[in-house]
Formats: sequence, structure tokens, C-alpha cells
Amino acid sequence: MTTGATSPLTSLAGSHLLSIADLDRDQILAIVESAIAIKKNQPTDAPLAGRSAALIFEKPSLRTRVSFEVGLFRLGAQGVYLDHSTSPIGKRESVEDLAGYLQRTVHAIIARVNSHAVVKSLASVSGIPVINALCDLEHPCQALADLVTIREHVGRLGGVRLAYVGDGNNVCHSLMLAGAIVGMHVTVVTPEGRGPRSEFVNAARRYAEESGVQIVVTSDLGAIENHDVVYTDTWESMGEPELTPEKARAFEPYRVTPAMMSKAGTGAVFMHCMPAHRGEEVDAAVIDGPTSVVYDQAENRLYAQNALMLALMGPRTGISEE
Ligand code: CP
Ligand code: NVA
Repeated sequence: MTTGATSPLTSLAGSHLLSIADLDRDQILAIVESAIAIKKNQPTDAPLAGRSAALIFEKPSLRTRVSFEVGLFRLGAQGVYLDHSTSPIGKRESVEDLAGYLQRTVHAIIARVNSHAVVKSLASVSGIPVINALCDLEHPCQALADLVTIREHVGRLGGVRLAYVGDGNNVCHSLMLAGAIVGMHVTVVTPEGRGPRSEFVNAARRYAEESGVQIVVTSDLGAIENHDVVYTDTWESMGEPELTPEKARAFEPYRVTPAMMSKAGTGAVFMHCMPAHRGEEVDAAVIDGPTSVVYDQAENRLYAQNALMLALMGPRTGISEE
């Protein structure tokens, strides 16, 4: 595990993670390596003993909730789940009062929210780390686990060619940024009008220029050729308007099929953050087939987030122990 005075993670103690771009290249790579080390050797010395984190969720979750709660337990810490699905953050009491109380009691806030503005406002008034566990614009914890999975299955990150196909959503934004920061070529292929937001494309292109890689955003399915990874996500993200038959028709050609995987290349692996919809964004033959690494990817959430929490909630953070 990467620790100690010279680690790029040392400076992260007490920081928020609202966007994957809050981390620089060295910090992302150190978290990936730390996650791989944790996966091989779970810490047995309860490095976060006596600490707690509040999980405030406005939206449903399987993987994120389970991996954070189990992950905290494995680090010797405790997770407290606060269901905000029927009462948005800021409604029962102000964000200031919520964060003001929590920072007297727990050591981090892990928030899954409808709007990015809510994690930003939580972070602006919180003296403890705020971790974005998905919002409308980003899913940075997913991107960290995705990089761990790519490192495991492709063997490297630098120079990897990743194709994201489908809806240019929160998962796409974080993955595109993460890829550009660590030096992966990212091709985003979506129907017209469903591409990633321009501010994310522009930011990714700035990082890509520094890393010497390319970010391609297109609706041309021919761009899928010659990739190491094909990634997709739901066509209907949580909180978005329902997928009408008309919208589904526009997405149809972008379903990941065995033919699309062959076109990407013989060694290409298939990834999906899940939950998945067989027959919509991906064929069962792909997600349940030999090139799919989706369960490894989901499992890696735990290790990536434990590496992240160790960095953010390390000994120098949270409630004073002096
Ligand atoms: N991938 C992911 O975040 O899954 P959940 O929505 O189940 O947490
Ligand atoms: N884009 C999806 C990801 C779910 C993990 C959503 O926001 O619903």
C-alpha cells in the first residue's frame, strides 16, 4: 500500500472528492496501486479504527452502499446510512446544520445526490471530507474502480484505448476525465444529442494534451474499431426523464453486441458500471460472455474506495484526537 511522507496521497488527507479531476495523475495512479495492494492483502490492523462516515443517499444504490459500508467495516470504521430518498438534502434542515452536526460526530460524508450543486454546497460548509458517491454530472468512485479493473485486465493504463458507447452521462464524464488524466485514449460514441457535456469534453481534452493522448467524441459507430476496452452504461440514468420508445430507437444502434465487440478488437474487454439492462444498452451474450469483466469491476469498488478513504480519512483528518 502506498503510504508515508513521499506518497502522492499524503497531501489528500482531509480533502474532498467531488470530481475525479480533484485528483492529479500521480494521486489517481497511487490510489489504483493502493487498491490493488489492498485487494491482495486486506489491512488487518484496523487503520481507521474509531472512525465513522455518514452515507447520505438521495438515490438508490446496491454496489456503492454495500462497498462503502463493507469497506469501512474492513478498515475498522463504521458507516451510518442516512436515507434521503424521500427528503432531499437541505429540505428537513439546512445543509449548514446537517454538515455542522455531522462534522462533530463522524469523519467523512459520503453523498449520493441528485444535483452536483448539493455535494459542492456540502463540501463548502464541511470541515470533514465529502466524497461524491454519484451525482448528475459525475461518478468519481466508479472511475477509480474502473481504472483498477483496466489495470488488472489490460495490464496497464498508459496508452490503453477505451471506447465508451451509449449515453454521455455522469459515468462517461468521470471516465473520460480519468482516462485523459492518466493517459488513456478515450473514444466516446453516442447518438446525436446524447454526447457528454461540452465542459467535460473540453476539460478532458486539456488533460489529454498534457498526457499526449486523444479524446474523440462522435456519433459514428465506425470509431469503435481498435480498442482495448468497450464500456457502456444505462440509457436512462437515475432522475432522468423516462426512456421513451422514440429515445430508445435512437440508442438502438449503440447497443453493445457481439458484432460490436468483434469490431473493437479480439482482445477487447467489456465493462459496465451496473445496474445493467440486458437487451437495451448491452446484449446478454456480451455482458454474460467471456470478454465481460463486470463483476471484477463491481468488486473493485470496495478496494478503490478503501484506498481513497485511507487517503482522505487518514490520521490527520476529522475530529481532533489530541
Ligand atoms: N455502479 C454503481 O454505482 O452501482 P449502484 O448504483 O448500485 O451503487
Ligand atoms: N448513469 C447511471 C449510473 C448508475 C450507477 C445513473 O446515474 O443512474
